[in-house]
Order: sequence, then structure tokens, then C-alpha cells
Amino acid sequence: MTDLVSIARSLFASGKGILAADESVHTATARLASYGVEAGEEMRRQYRDLFFGAEGVEQYLSGIILFSETLAQKGDDKKRFPESLSERGIAPGVKVDLGTEPLPTSPEELITQGLLDLSERLQEYKKQGAVFTKWRAVVRIDGDQLPSAAALHENAKRLAAYAKEVQSAGLVPILEPEVLYAGKHSRMRARAVLSETLGTLFSLLEETAVDLGSVILKTSMVLSGSESGKSDTPEEVAADTLTVLLEQVPAEVAGIVFLSGGQTPDQATENLRAIAALAKKENAPWPLTFSYARALQEEALALWKGEPENVPAARAAFLKRLEKVSAALG
Ligand code: 13P
Repeated sequence: MTDLVSIARSLFASGKGILAADESVHTATARLASYGVEAGEEMRRQYRDLFFGAEGVEQYLSGIILFSETLAQKGDDKKRFPESLSERGIAPGVKVDLGTEPLPTSPEELITQGLLDLSERLQEYKKQGAVFTKWRAVVRIDGDQLPSAAALHENAKRLAAYAKEVQSAGLVPILEPEVLYAGKHSRMRARAVLSETLGTLFSLLEETAVDLGSVILKTSMVLSGSESGKSDTPEEVAADTLTVLLEQVPAEVAGIVFLSGGQTPDQATENLRAIAALAKKENAPWPLTFSYARALQEEALALWKGEPENVPAARAAFLKRLEKVSAALG
């Protein structure tokens, strides 16, 4: 087994998953502002330390996805974050895309940028201790019009180019084509769009000769749009999500992780429980786990409010949620 395959597989250690803590400066600022916290660089460092410094997280976390700024920052223990995470057996990863830009031929749709100087940045991230990476593309559903085939194709092409480059730099790629939960669409429409998104992605990966053995897919669950007025049972979510994954994701991929996408922490936990149980029943060929940002952070952030005296209560809430999400894996 190559190093990359073993790193990728280690992220699926039993009962463990990945914390996405890779919010860009822009997203972290908006997220913290929504909890009344004004964020500069030091406050963002404290925000990361709130989660990474919680005692015992290594029981539930195999990896944490960092933002590039965080790779160079230190925790309250005075150690650089990647170093203290590695010492506790948590693999440090890094988000390497540089956000989105409009697709020129369909400007309502977004394509992800960041390929131009990627190879130099990867060398730097590797030196700083990262062992895996993430690239996120967004897929917006609007009626039967969006997404366009052109947007799906361009995003898939860039995801494939990213994966190829990352593997040749000796890092594991996580590919995240996020089908957005926001919208009025039905669950059936979300299912069709996820299927087309993944079909396009895996055909481009094959064309680009990406080694699937060290590829991790980060996917949305199949859900009725958040403004559809419909709520899905975990069993409905699990059945539709797994049907698409079994149809579109080759058995060789190292594993599949789920994003939470704006679901409540309980919804993301219960849907994961149903998906994991059904995957076991149907003998799905790949391991599955979580890679949540909001669903893991939300309860802790509501308690923290940027105040040092709230750190113990916020960390306790984070650990409690981690315990529930980990238990949902079965
Ligand atoms: P959410 O779990 O909040 O969707 O975030 C996951 C992620 O990594 C988004 O890029």
C-alpha cells in the first residue's frame, strides 16, 4: 500500500471523522460575526484553538482541515497547530482552493479557482506539516435550469486537475463538489443533480488518470431544498444518498465523507446514522465518515462568544456533539 493510500485510509479509523476548520478569512469573519464576535487574526487563532485545544478530541477526530493561515499559527500551548495535532494522532490537512469566480458563459454559476500557483503552494503546505488537502466546488440548484452541464464539467475538470497535482506532490486529495442545500428544489431533484455531478466528476477523474485509491470524496447528502418547506426522514435521506453513491462512486475510492451543509447538528447526526446503517446493510464498498464544519461547531460557538471564561463550556458542548456524531457511525 502506498503512503498516500494509507494516509487516506487512516482518516477512516473506526469511530473517527474529520473536523472541517478551514473557513477562509472572509467566511470565518462572517461566521464569528453571526455570534457577535469581531474577528481579527488573533481572534481567529483563538477560534481554532477553542476546538483543537479541547482535551480528548483525538478520540473522535482522525483529521482536521485547516485554512492556510492556521497552518502557521500556534495554539495556547505555544506549538504550531499542525505539530500539536500530529502529536495527538490527528492528521493536519489544508484547504487549497482559492474560492470561487463566476463561470463566464453562465455568470450565475460559480467555478472554483486556485490551480495557477497550486504546485508552489503545495510544497509550502507540505513543509508546514499538511498531509492531505481539500478543494471545494459549489453546485447550485435552480429549477430545471441550474446547474448547467458546462458548469458541472468545468468544476469537475478543475477538481481532477487539482487531484492529479496534489497526488504528484505526495498529498491526499479530498474532492468536495458540494450540491447546495439552499433552494426550493425537491429531494428527487437533489438526487438527480448529485448523480449528474458525481457522474461528471468520476468520468473526468478517469480521463485525467487520477489514482482513485487515495482519493476521498466529500459529498452532500440528498436533501429536499432548505426552502422547499419539506423535511425528509433520515431513512429517506439515507436511501436516496446511498443509491446515488452506489451508482456513481467507484469501489476503489479510499472513502467518502459527508459535509453538513447547513443542516442542524441533530439533523446532520441522525442522517449520518441512517446512512451508515444502510451502508453497512448493503455492504457498501467504501468506508464512510463525517467531515462537518457547522454541525460540529455551532453549539460551541453559541456558548463561546469570544470570551475566555466561556471556553470550558464551549469545549464541553463540542465534545458532546463529537461523541454523538461518532456514535452515529455505528
Ligand atoms: P459544513 O459541514 O458546514 O457544510 O462545512 C463543510 C465544508 O468543509 C464546507 O466546505
